[in-house]
Amino acid sequence: MDILIKNGRVIDPVNKIDRVTGVLISEDRIVKIGNLSEVKTSGEKPKIIDAKNKVVIPGIIDIHTHLREPGHEEEETIATGTRSAAVGGVTSIFCMPNTHPVIDNQTAVEFILLKAKNEGIVNVFPVGAITKGLSGEDLTEIGELKKAGVVSISDDGNPVMDALVMRRALEYAKMFDLSVIAHCEDKNLSEDGVMNESYTSTLLGLRGIPNESEDVMVARDIILSALTGGHLHIAHVSTKGSVELIRQAKRNKIPVSCEACPHHFTLTDEMVKTYDTNTKVNPPLRTEEDVREIIKGLQDGTIDCIASDHAPHTEEEKNKEYDLAPFGIVGLETLLPLTITYLVKTKKLSLMAAITKLTSNPKKIFKLDSGTLTPGSKADITIIDINVERVIKDFVSKSKNSPFLGKKLQGFAVMTIVNGKIIMDNGKILSD
Ligand code: DOR
Repeated sequence: MDILIKNGRVIDPVNKIDRVTGVLISEDRIVKIGNLSEVKTSGEKPKIIDAKNKVVIPGIIDIHTHLREPGHEEEETIATGTRSAAVGGVTSIFCMPNTHPVIDNQTAVEFILLKAKNEGIVNVFPVGAITKGLSGEDLTEIGELKKAGVVSISDDGNPVMDALVMRRALEYAKMFDLSVIAHCEDKNLSEDGVMNESYTSTLLGLRGIPNESEDVMVARDIILSALTGGHLHIAHVSTKGSVELIRQAKRNKIPVSCEACPHHFTLTDEMVKTYDTNTKVNPPLRTEEDVREIIKGLQDGTIDCIASDHAPHTEEEKNKEYDLAPFGIVGLETLLPLTITYLVKTKKLSLMAAITKLTSNPKKIFKLDSGTLTPGSKADITIIDINVERVIKDFVSKSKNSPFLGKKLQGFAVMTIVNGKIIMDNGKILSD
């Protein structure tokens, strides 16, 4: 059945649309953006969705999630992770290859795609590993990974410490028209750090990870991108220094893009004083000054995308001493409300700019079919209520490791449509 979304404020950055109008969907495609009176449907009456006082946007693309399947299904599976996405208004996710086994070969990619087809409810785009087993040593068969269906390559969770390996990765990725997503961290400088290196880490007696551990690798990878011409996408930017390096690189026309995660523009390392292990992420929460610079980077276009770095861990794993707990927090269900609450409601970013970083920039950087409402494109749509307030109480994700539990946020998805099918309505998953 056709679907007609009426009376909503339709925002589509690709077509520079921001007005109250209708969107008509037929099967899995967007047919038309326009007023109801102009719209003729194909015989059968369409299902009407009244989006009055709501915002209708291209489905959100989260370019950074960890689904944990295969290997750590107790933390998340493709089934639960994609349901968590649907509730968060996310219609497409990139899943990182640090699973067990690692997504470093064709069979592993095929496994993800098959599982996603059978058990997932949003689009799943696998990211293949740069090096076999994420060892940082031997490159994967990048052409084979591309043929199998990866959208990018990354050793996320681990840096590629060897500069020659990174150089070759950028060269091969360029040959196969892929970008390299870099986890920029100098492991030697991080040592065994568990939080940001700062006055707070000294006070708490916890080992610190200095900003420079990220900055030196961002600088190195920018230099290698300039050398090779390979497209570099820097994951989870957390420091003032990185933002400035990327700004300069863009001025110099080096092919670099990047993302920031909500926890890095909303929280600081002061939060670690609670010893709550849900403040333990990699890269770590930084200082007020870093947060300010990340926001400036989002404002001036240095930071292209907002991504969740959804990293589920079980309560047993997180319920340990700070030193021993794993890094990572869940983020698919808070990606949109944190962006709305901390950037849009505070007038730091316009709604159009925020939606651009969640939809059309990921589309552009990774050359995806989704991410726009242009007629003829895939009918992936998120309908949001930017005024609704809610206290974060629980998650659909299998894991609950979030520092935002108990926080009141504003701006949530009320409907998620994937491939022309309504899969979430008012927080309820409809496909089950
Ligand atoms: O906090 C993090 N958790 N950062 C990463 O880079 C990896 C991730 C994970 O896989 O848990």
